[in-house]
Amino acid sequence: MIAHRSKSWAIRPLPPTEHGMRIDGSIAFVTGANRGIGHAFVRALLGRGASKVYAGTRTPGVVAGDDVVPVGLDITNREQVLAAAAIASDADIVINNAGIATPGRPLTVSLDDARRDFEVNVLGTLSVSQAFAPVLAANGGGALVNVLSVMSWVTVPPMSVYAASKAAGWSLTNALRLQLRDQNTLVTGVFSDSVSTDMTDGLAGPMLSPAEVVGPVLDAIEAGAEEVLVGDYPRTVKASLHDELRLLYPGRDRGAS
Ligand SMILES: NC(=O)c1ccc[n+]([C@@H]2O[C@H](COP(=O)([O-])OP(=O)(O)OC[C@H]3O[C@@H](n4cnc5c(N)ncnc54)[C@H](OP(=O)(O)O)[C@@H]3O)[C@@H](O)[C@H]2O)c1
Repeated sequence: MIAHRSKSWAIRPLPPTEHGMRIDGSIAFVTGANRGIGHAFVRALLGRGASKVYAGTRTPGVVAGDDVVPVGLDITNREQVLAAAAIASDADIVINNAGIATPGRPLTVSLDDARRDFEVNVLGTLSVSQAFAPVLAANGGGALVNVLSVMSWVTVPPMSVYAASKAAGWSLTNALRLQLRDQNTLVTGVFSDSVSTDMTDGLAGPMLSPAEVVGPVLDAIEAGAEEVLVGDYPRTVKASLHDELRLLYPGRDRGAS
């Protein structure tokens, strides 16, 4: 345990999660629900018996279906975030899925591009979490899921600001977990390898399908698990963090870029 002068923010071990929650009969809110992993979340939640899914999208109304309630939501717009939380006041699962990935190496990426990734991936996620925390509390605690990435734990220069934003998202997720445990909210971080969506369009290499990501996340909500690692690479990376400069960046001494 790390000793701090102020007892009020001393780091204490988290107690084990008391319980997960059933997807069957739940009411969920998904951000970025119109395509990719977000759309797969909507389908999978309904497939497992969620009684209602609010589909947050920047273009309102593009996700339709029985038991789907479309909500116009740009997560960087505070008024829209607060309005979404008021509309979805019966939600007991919130999935912070919306995100962007702007390519850029650290020395040349434009600061505007970097700011945009942080605006969406960090501050947008924080904004939604703040707005929905009282909703989850009022509905018994529920679950808050933050879709992070294996890049929370490992970076590559061409995706430097995206990885930095997902690392910040990881830290934020841990802080949210500490604060929300008092209201019995399960906070689950999702660390996935590459997934075949518009975000990875044109990239080579093996890809998971969106369905392969969302299935384990819904399992985790039901089991009360606080982290979901999807694919082999996140497990390798997490197991390497005790010595990551040697194990994850072996070419760095040769100027790898
Ligand atoms: N694909 C991967 O390899 C991978 C791996 C690990 C983690 N992830 C994470 O998974 C999440 C979903 O990614 P994806 O692969 O499904 O990407 P995607 O296909 O590009 O979809 C991104 C979604 O986020 C929405 N979005 C972007 N900015 C938004 C904003 N300001 N407000 C509201 N919605 C916004 C998009 O809406 P519009 O249609 O309006 O643009 C879209 O619905 C992201 O957080 C991403 O970082 C992806």
